[in-house]
Parts: sequence; structure tokens; C-alpha cells
Amino acid sequence: MSETILVTGGAGYIGSHTAVALAERDVQVVIVDNLANSSAKAIEAIDRLGGRRVIFHEIDLLDADALGDVFQAHPIDAVIHFAGLKAVGESVEKPLDYYRTNLLSTMNLLDQMAANDVWDLVFSSSATVYGDPKILPIPETAPLGPTNPYGRTKHMIEDICRDAAAADRRWRISLLRYFNPVGAHPSGELGEDPRGIPNNLVPFVMQVAVGRRERLSVFGDDWETDDGTGVRDYIHVLDLASGHVSALDRLEPGCDEFNLGTGTGVSVFDIVKTVENVTGVSIPYEVVDRRPGDIATSLADPSKANEKLEWRADRSVDTMLTDSWRWQSNHPNGFNDEQHLTAEAEG
Ligand code: NAD
Ligand code: WQD
Repeated sequence: MSETILVTGGAGYIGSHTAVALAERDVQVVIVDNLANSSAKAIEAIDRLGGRRVIFHEIDLLDADALGDVFQAHPIDAVIHFAGLKAVGESVEKPLDYYRTNLLSTMNLLDQMAANDVWDLVFSSSATVYGDPKILPIPETAPLGPTNPYGRTKHMIEDICRDAAAADRRWRISLLRYFNPVGAHPSGELGEDPRGIPNNLVPFVMQVAVGRRERLSVFGDDWETDDGTGVRDYIHVLDLASGHVSALDRLEPGCDEFNLGTGTGVSVFDIVKTVENVTGVSIPYEVVDRRPGDIATSLADPSKANEKLEWRADRSVDTMLTDSWRWQSNHPNGFNDEQHLTAEAEG
């Protein structure tokens, strides 16, 4: 009998790639998403790429009754919880929206899981829970200290999960702390589709490469790093997706945390150079002031996930950016525009 996995936020960037990875393993995927930051076209792409249809319910996780109906309708074995709001800057502007959405939707989910005797959960946490790290590379045992409301919602949800698991040993929870997810499905049919001006480096650079934006603003070249620009641990979204599958397969009673990263540091200038190589397009940029709240370096120690989850992120930065570019150049305006660049050029 095939497994049934509920994927909240499955129409979004990481959830959609994970849904494909699950469908490829013949899992029945049930997606709930309110499409607040995603498109129903992602669901169509998951169906095409995964080789079997997912079940999609367009609901808000804040609606506990609607969520309860989903648990009643399907024999759910486990949940991967991606749904939530994720923009750091917006969370500073609208903290109550972030606390309400991220915390209450998780509470509704945990309540419905317990009520329906479902105890297996993989949760999207973030390296942002570490704040400005004191130890590099960062192990899971490093002190936590998020510096913005978004990060604090992740920290609070981690605490809620740890407390729930300590009180009831039926829970089996993995908290996955992602570093910097980039890349896209190699088909070029599924990728990151941010609304408005991208907050993150790679989507922004890709939009410069495709001609949607004039130039990149580099947020400081006077950081304490080799070339003065910020260093991050970028991880291919497909490696992240397989990390979820490994985590699901290896859930143990209690609640445990895992860094999902590569352990390799890459600077803003490294990204610009690699994008220029893989796209053949020169990326105009200007160095501007540091972005408030930024840190010099974020780098995972992924050894715990390597060992306990028997998982490793091995796709290179070249592959990440080649795959991002295939998606971006096939879909210059993301899911909103099915027009292809080649068609435009021919027309
Ligand atoms: P995303 O915005 O593409 O996906 C999140 C999905 O959740 C969206 O499809 C959105 O419509 C849905 N959603 C939001 N609020 C909802 C609600 N109340 N009810 C139902 N659906 C709702 O984001 P992503 O990049 O795929 O991130 C997935 C998860 O991973 C998030 O929890 C995010 O905080 C976490 N995370 C992301 C990153 C990153 O850089 N992308 C890094 C670390 C952690
Ligand atoms: C990477 C580097 C910037 C944009 C954020 C969240 C974090 C997590 C992942 C969810 C930094 C520089 C960026 C630009 C630039 N999300 N940069 N010009 O800040 O590491 O992490 O996304 O959990 O919580 O904070 O990623 O891609 O924004 O920045 O120079 O236009 O690129 O200063 O050094 P970040 P990012």
C-alpha cells in the first residue's frame, strides 16, 4: 500500500520540489496551500514531473475546520510542513501577521495531527534561528538567537515541537534548518517564482540576467570575508527535497534538529561570476550599503544530517545556477508568463 503524505505549502518553492521527489517514490501526496505566495500552475507542473497526480486542497491553515476535513478525507501517514510566511523584511513591518500565520497555522496542524492519530512531522525550520553565529561552521548545538520576527516564529515553532514531543512520546519530529536554498528542477518547468522585487540574491541576479532588472545591488564589500562580500551556504533545492525524504524515512521518537547545507561558503561575487559563466550574460552591479540585519558568513556543519539521515547535498553551485537559469530563461516572468524567450526572439 502506498504511503500518503500531507505537504503543507506544497505549491511553494521548496514544497513543490519535495512533492515531485515524493511522487517519484510513488507516494500519494496531498497538498494544502492557500496560494498566498504561489500559483496553481505549480501543481500542474508537479503532476507532470512527478509522474502521478497529487491531490490539492486550496485552503488556509488558519482554517482549522477545513484542515480537519482534509485529515478526515485522506489516510495521512505523515506531514511535511512548509506553509508559512518567509520574508524577513516584511516580518519586521508586519510582525503580527507573521506570528499569527506561522504560529497559529502550526498549532492548528499539530492539533489536527494529534486528533487524527498522525504523529510523524518534518518541519521547515531555518538557519535564521542561529542569528549572528558565534561558531563557524554552525553545528546544531550552537546557541539560538534569531534577530527578526520571522526567525523568532521559527524558533518558537521549534520550541513548541520540542515541548509536544517531550510530553507525548508518540510524536516523531524532525526540524530541518535549511541554509540558502537555490536552483530549480532540471526540466526548467518548476522553480522559484518570487512576487514583486526578489529579496534573495539568486532570484534577483537571475532577473538581472534575463533583463527584468537593470543591476544588482551588492549589500557591502567590506565584510570580514575573503572578497569582502557576504558568504552563504547555498544548497540545491533538489538536495533539500531529498533531505526531506531521508528525514521522513528516518524519523525517531522525540524531536531532533538537522542542518541542511553543504558546508561550503560562497560569496556574492562568486555567485555573480558563476551566473555570468552559466548564462553568458554580464551582470551589472553596484556596491551599496550593508542591508540591516545581514551577517558576514553563514555556513552549515551538515555532519549530523550526513550521518543520521544518511544524506548529503552534493550538487555544485554551477549546477544550482545552471538549473535556476533554465527555469528563469524558460519562464522570464515565472508561472505568470508561459511565453518563452525563444518564442519572443523568433517573434
Ligand atoms: P514559499 O513561499 O514558496 O512556500 C510557502 C507556501 O506556503 C506558499 O505556497 C504559500 O502560498 C503557502 N502558505 C503561506 N501561508 C499559508 C497559510 N496560512 N495556509 C496555507 N498555505 C500557506 O516558500 P519556500 O521558500 O518554499 O519555503 C518553504 C518553507 O521553508 C517556509 O516555511 C520557509 O519559512 C522555510 N524556509 C525557506 C527558506 C528559503 O530561503 N526559501 C530558507 C529556510 C526556511
Ligand atoms: C545572500 C547574500 C546578502 C540580495 C535569507 C533569510 C534567511 C533564509 C534565506 C528563510 C547576503 C547578499 C542579497 C541582494 C546582495 N530564509 N545580497 N544583494 O540573507 O542569507 O538569508 O534567505 O528562512 O532567513 O534571511 O539570503 O539571498 O537574501 O542574501 O548583495 O540583492 O547576498 O547581503 O550576503 P540570506 P539572501
